[in-house]
Amino acid sequence: MQFEIAKNPAALSDAARAEAMANPAFGRVFTDHMVTIRWTAENGWDEAQVRARAPFQLDPAAAVLHYAQEIFEGLKAYNADDGGVTMFRPEQNARRFNASARRMAMPEVPEEIFLQACEELIRIDRAWVPDGDGSLYLRPFMFANEAFLGVKPASEFIFCVIACPVGSYFKGGAKPVSVWLSEDYARSGPGGTGAAKCGGNYAASLVAQAQAIEKGCDQVVFLDAAEHRWVEELGGMNLFFVFDDGSMLTPPLGGTILPGITRNSVIELARQHGRTVEEKPYSIDDWRADAASGKLREVFACGTAAVIVAVGEIRSSHGDFAIGGSQTGPVTAQLRDELTAIQRNKAPAPDGWVHPVTL
Ligand code: PLP
Ligand code: COI
Repeated sequence: MQFEIAKNPAALSDAARAEAMANPAFGRVFTDHMVTIRWTAENGWDEAQVRARAPFQLDPAAAVLHYAQEIFEGLKAYNADDGGVTMFRPEQNARRFNASARRMAMPEVPEEIFLQACEELIRIDRAWVPDGDGSLYLRPFMFANEAFLGVKPASEFIFCVIACPVGSYFKGGAKPVSVWLSEDYARSGPGGTGAAKCGGNYAASLVAQAQAIEKGCDQVVFLDAAEHRWVEELGGMNLFFVFDDGSMLTPPLGGTILPGITRNSVIELARQHGRTVEEKPYSIDDWRADAASGKLREVFACGTAAVIVAVGEIRSSHGDFAIGGSQTGPVTAQLRDELTAIQRNKAPAPDGWVHPVTL
């Protein structure tokens, strides 16, 4: 696709950018540019632009503001030792984006356009890709931009990619996190949108996340909506359990949880090590009992933003319990080291996991 490219005349100076990147935290510092592509029922994908990052002008009746027809992705780009930049499994994000689009009655973005849009942004904002432990977090998203109040799929959409230099997702860096067990709120239900990466899922999780913070926890853990019994995932990460016999378990993809790309990568790496990894339901009662008996040795959460982080403590209105406390277990640490080495081009990657960007 042909992109019209207009450089930001007010792009930060090298010194101002260095200062902005010195301590970026997560998702608060943005690069100089963005990519936008418009979709209309008449013309399909059109008007592809790389331009200065700027606010959108939205009609107050824009469908996204009323009925939340919106989806997004999250992926990272890294500086490679050879001077290049790579993305981690971006084709998987493109595919999941389109699965989300189908669920939300939105147009699909052809995979090559999704990838090209990410690459265009990385190229123009190359200087914003951090060195060291940092990475450039890319946020492709799409929203309904038609002005009307009828409840039906819109006929006009904007696809956009923005980017942030990021460090660690959690304030405590790689230290184990604590989670609050939400017994009142569910994130998604059977037939719902749990497997789609749509803004509405996150809106629905915020009151539970606020409770978690109030209880001094980093994240919320959700149970299934039907029985309030089966562990699903955190507000923004998938979960893994490691047992005393070395086997691992993660909740299955049944339509109510996000099919994480990190989750899929962890399963593949652990199986390559000869570990048994089961995708099967795990109840909160078993989690509690296995933590008490010592059968459960490690729990970790994983996702693009957080990578892999140990879950040390669970708090709930029915009592708290811990697994490993403030220590990251050896299996968690090994998988995290291996995955980050692959993502940062410091270890051989399985075929197709590392996508070089043409600079
Ligand atoms: N689950 C939820 C709800 C998420 O928001 C994320 C983050 O993207 C994940 C899981 C992990 O997915 P991924 O590993 O593809 O980033
Ligand atoms: C990601 O990991 O990309 C997410 O979207 C999760 C969110 C908590 C930032």
